[in-house]
Amino acid sequence: MNSILCIGAGYVGGPTMAVIADQCPHLRVCVVDINADRISAWNSDSLPIYEPELDEVVKRTRGRNLFFSTDIDGEIRKADIIFVSVNTPTKTFGHGAGMASDLQYWEKTARQILANSDRSKIIVEKSTLPVRTAAAMERILNSGENGIQFQVLSNPEFLAEGTAIQDLINPDRVLIGGQETEQGRNAVQALVDIYANWVADEKILRTNVWSAELSKLAANAFLAQRISSINAISALCEATEADVDEVSRAIGLDSRIGPKFLKASVGFGGSCFKKDILNLVYLCGHYGLKEVADYWHQVVAMNDFQTDRFVDNILKQMFNTVAGKKITLFGFAFKANTGDTRESPAIKVAKNLLTEQACVWVSDPKALNNAKQDLRDLAVHLESDPYVAATGSHAIAVMTEWQTYRTLDYQRIYDSMEKPAFIFDGRNILNHRELFNLGFNVFPIGKPGLTHF
Ligand code: UDX
Ligand code: ADP
Repeated sequence: MNSILCIGAGYVGGPTMAVIADQCPHLRVCVVDINADRISAWNSDSLPIYEPELDEVVKRTRGRNLFFSTDIDGEIRKADIIFVSVNTPTKTFGHGAGMASDLQYWEKTARQILANSDRSKIIVEKSTLPVRTAAAMERILNSGENGIQFQVLSNPEFLAEGTAIQDLINPDRVLIGGQETEQGRNAVQALVDIYANWVADEKILRTNVWSAELSKLAANAFLAQRISSINAISALCEATEADVDEVSRAIGLDSRIGPKFLKASVGFGGSCFKKDILNLVYLCGHYGLKEVADYWHQVVAMNDFQTDRFVDNILKQMFNTVAGKKITLFGFAFKANTGDTRESPAIKVAKNLLTEQACVWVSDPKALNNAKQDLRDLAVHLESDPYVAATGSHAIAVMTEWQTYRTLDYQRIYDSMEKPAFIFDGRNILNHRELFNLGFNVFPIGKPGLTHF
């Protein structure tokens, strides 16, 4: 097994292959994409995605045993193992619209693999897909008339953006689902042999294909559910005298619950949570499990409620009108340490504020290019310098927990703003008492506001 190919050079494919190439210098690793601009960016000094440590890993490996190319057909012919990491957006049309995954890219890829293969290959699903996709893919792949057999494995990726490289180097687990046949077991072993270069054997889980596929959807649903749970409690905290950070700490110290993923926020974003839950909901509906579908759907509904509630609060606190007022968003990425803005709550916040005729300014250290796309055709100002963005604002709304926002000179910012000056901390990262003492009216998530009137 010498040659690995990954189809799809995105947030998952790029970092994953860079780490495999780094950890396995004896393997040739190639990443292909239909998007030629993306491939040239991967081949340049300015990578198409921002991810801590990624530049260094790519610098070490690119041109040695890591290659980026647009020659999909040629690279398929060379490869022994093909990872498929193309996007699977939510369907926007027909049956399952708004819920199910749009599998057309996946199916096209399967047909392209079939058309360009003259020997057996192992195909690895990396994208998160609905349960039973691997089986469908195997049927397409094995429909060829030349007798070539493909094994399809499910190897869902659990990396989180912003920590992708560390997640890949030190995974909590690697999950590999395969057929329970001899060929299936051999294919699983071939993939295990790659990970075994740096991952301890007890962390490599072998399951059947459907368990692997469902585990990914379930893991994301559980994670998102924790955030929606604490966000639901944050609404109650705001209505009472409780403080959500205190509640979160108190419940997180119960070792059965644990402290992670209990940070109340303006809402979760990212390309996975909403999409995967809707997928799960669709799947449950398909199998007639209405109550189960409704249960998980509520996690997404609570998230939408939380973001809407945040904007409603801005409006309410600013005397029920933001028309003509300058409001500056600190952060646009869906979380810190990434430039990714997919499903970022900031998109909805910006749009809702614009509907209220606010004058919206957006600042972010890494996400302004994506923000420009998300907000195209809308009258929004983008400004990387937070001090410039804040000048003349009536309010600042913290959307992303970038470290840099914790350490700004808020006296300087306060002095440059219209009065009364407001801060809505959608991530609870600032020192609210200190800001209040500077003169700000401060509205955190899930705690009482601090006002001067
Ligand atoms: C997620 C999963 O964590 C990862 O395992 C999977 O492979 C892909 O989906 P990602 O979306 O990159 O990863 O980031 P994650 O750290 O999970 O954050 C998702 C969203 O939840 C972000 O908007 C984040 O700000 C928010 N969040 C997270 C909270 O609001 N509160 C928390 O306590 C944790
Ligand atoms: P993820 O976060 O899952 O990695 P991305 O959207 O970042 O998702 O990346 C998916 C990549 O897959 C994109 O760069 C897209 O151009 C690529 N892609 C989609 N369809 C195909 C295809 N048929 N062949 C090759 N690449 C594809």
